[in-house]
Amino acid sequence: MANVVITGASSGIGAALARFYAGPGVALGVIGQAAGRLEAVSGGLRAAGAQVSQGVFDVRDRAALEGFLAAFDARHPIDLLIANAGVLDGRRDGSVLETAESARRVIGINLLGAVDTVQAVLPGMVARGRGHIVLVSSLAGLSALPDAPAYSASKAGLLAYGRGLRAALVGTGVRVSVVCPGYVASAMTDSHIGKQPGKISADDAARLMAAGIARNRAVIGFPRLLYFLALITPFIPEAITRLATRDIRFHVAPPD
Ligand SMILES: NC(=O)c1ccc[n+]([C@@H]2O[C@H](COP(=O)([O-])OP(=O)(O)OC[C@H]3O[C@@H](n4cnc5c(N)ncnc54)[C@H](OP(=O)(O)O)[C@@H]3O)[C@@H](O)[C@H]2O)c1
Repeated sequence: MANVVITGASSGIGAALARFYAGPGVALGVIGQAAGRLEAVSGGLRAAGAQVSQGVFDVRDRAALEGFLAAFDARHPIDLLIANAGVLDGRRDGSVLETAESARRVIGINLLGAVDTVQAVLPGMVARGRGHIVLVSSLAGLSALPDAPAYSASKAGLLAYGRGLRAALVGTGVRVSVVCPGYVASAMTDSHIGKQPGKISADDAARLMAAGIARNRAVIGFPRLLYFLALITPFIPEAITRLATRDIRFHVAPPD
């Protein structure tokens, strides 16, 4: 992969993916909001030999998003686009549900931000007859979390969007994969107050994702056991699911 764009590359999984793909001859477009953190990540990518272009904006800012992606694609036709930017929010300690405002924000960033990212890059890929689009969903997209329903909806939406897109693009040369990670150590899981079984490092998650991308897998789910359990959840009686998941109920810490 010579020309790679990653949204949400200033932290966690996105930064680990950028490190994974960085190397001589690679042009990396990295997008995030925190300029300082993005610059810190970019320093490491340049040290690994990559040419780095930074986009510092909110993915909900369509003009900024489309402008950055068009300019990058003109210089470095994008081979791999990873729509990874996302936020977790859910219920706070002592409350039953997330707020309406939080639900709209989560769906706006996680789902609409990713769709806008794809739409900005897809025509160029289709015209060239090559490229790979990767959407970072979650196991929560397969098995909804009662503590974060809007987050789960955003990730289920992304999974459905990616599956539809993959089928729609058969024969165009453009590939689509959706990633459904379980718990991965990052700023996001730092704000998740509760048990996190099977948690892996962001670097391990990036390696698993890259292996699935290289094999053009439709859905890349991990860790295996949690992925399997998430897949079968719809076929299990609700009361049993409630009982089996009671130990992994959580709340989300308020922002600093
Ligand atoms: N960690 C997990 O256990 C886990 C599990 C399943 C799925 N995921 C998914 O993996 C992805 C990466 O999460 P992570 O764990 O690496 O979390 P993270 O460390 O909090 O990183 C999130 C990244 O998204 C960026 N971002 C958030 N809102 C943005 C916005 N409005 N515009 C532009 N960039 C934005 C952040 O940039 P700034 O900080 O600069 O805003 C940051 O680079 C997310 O989509 C998440 O839902 C994570």
